[in-house]
Amino acid sequence: MKNYLDNLPKDIDKLINLASRVARKQGVRAYLVGGVVRDLILGVDNFDLDIVIEGDGLAFGSELARKVTGRLVTHPRFGTATLMISNKIKLDIATCRSEIYQEPGSLPLVSAGALQDDLARRDFTINTLAIDLMPDRFGSLIDFYHGKRDLKLKFVRILHNLSFIDDPTRILRAVRFEQRLGFRIEPHTLRLLKESAKANMLRCVSPHRLRDEIILMLREPEVIRCILRMKQLVGFNFIHPHIKLDRSNLDYLRAVKREINWFYNNFPKGRELDVWLMYFVGIVSNLNANQVDRICKRFGFRKGEIKRIISYYKFSRQKVKCISKKDISPSQIYRILEPLSFETILLIKAKYKNRFLDSHIKNFFEYYNGARVYISGRDLTQIGLRPSPDFRKILTRLLYLQLDGKINSRQEALEWISRFC
Ligand code: CTP
Repeated sequence: MKNYLDNLPKDIDKLINLASRVARKQGVRAYLVGGVVRDLILGVDNFDLDIVIEGDGLAFGSELARKVTGRLVTHPRFGTATLMISNKIKLDIATCRSEIYQEPGSLPLVSAGALQDDLARRDFTINTLAIDLMPDRFGSLIDFYHGKRDLKLKFVRILHNLSFIDDPTRILRAVRFEQRLGFRIEPHTLRLLKESAKANMLRCVSPHRLRDEIILMLREPEVIRCILRMKQLVGFNFIHPHIKLDRSNLDYLRAVKREINWFYNNFPKGRELDVWLMYFVGIVSNLNANQVDRICKRFGFRKGEIKRIISYYKFSRQKVKCISKKDISPSQIYRILEPLSFETILLIKAKYKNRFLDSHIKNFFEYYNGARVYISGRDLTQIGLRPSPDFRKILTRLLYLQLDGKINSRQEALEWISRFC
């Protein structure tokens, strides 16, 4: 019998063995299931583990959580729990269940069932594989729905004809897996997918669930291929009927991708970008700020996300002109770019190709952003100034002088502020 858990990374191996021991002690059966099994067979790293318990998943989760350092969040209504082991490893625990869908796109009702029922409700055959964690069959593959065959054939295949009706978000998921894995949507599945898309099934899904799937898609490494495939199979009516995605939008999306790569290559220690948000702007870039604002609110994007998206639309022509000039001063660059998020700045860089704008933005990321003034509020009180909102103004003016190279040391800064006494 082949042991499919032979070559796990060390920390995952330890966790899986521990889970197996906890399950045995509690007298329940445990299985590793879903995406992680698919990726294990494909030889792809995946640190999002899913375990299904035939028995009480919540009790299993609490016991496991006591034995590892991690944070457990339980959802008793669904019989599920999530154990965050580190910022890399996450373990989702589910109680074996079969589900009855009330109406298309709604959340399923849950009832007790066995592993096979649990796997039967899943999206694609390649996600129905399971690995037994019980000591007597540890590491053996369970393949009720020919998942392994479809991994070989490189097919994304649904389990039954009503799959896209039960859960229309699977339309997006099919495209996502197809593009990520370099697979094809199996012909019958493709026919049903197109029928569901034509029948506007995505409109039956709550905007929040749609949003989550859109975000997952826009985080994929092959995001532009996903977008093109969506355009070909489904279109983007479900986001807004006026989205065009013509040649110029697609060029813009490619430019956005180039800017993201440029940022990560030039600032490898810089912060993580919300790339999905940037590609989202790429998709809706032919709409106006009001239309985009309404979409964002319908999907329930967070305030900060909406702000970053809308500030791209609100960036005035005049500012573009100003930041594209050859001889603009560093402090002017700072004043224009500092209120914006990195995502917005890169969206602007992608949109307005200009070598001065490019180099000003590079300088901003490299030198100006995060620049510190030579002195602090404490220095101001020490020279006898009373704390007031003016402190901020003084320090900001000082920062501008520093950026423009007019003040170059703490001594010069102290001399400059002494005039306020
Ligand atoms: N699932 C489903 N239908 C959905 C969402 C999820 O059937 N609309 C099932 C899939 O079988 C999937 C499992 O729930 O394997 C876990 O979901 P998720 O973590 O989204 O899937 P992964 O396959 O782990 O995807 P990824 O590799 O992107 O994390």
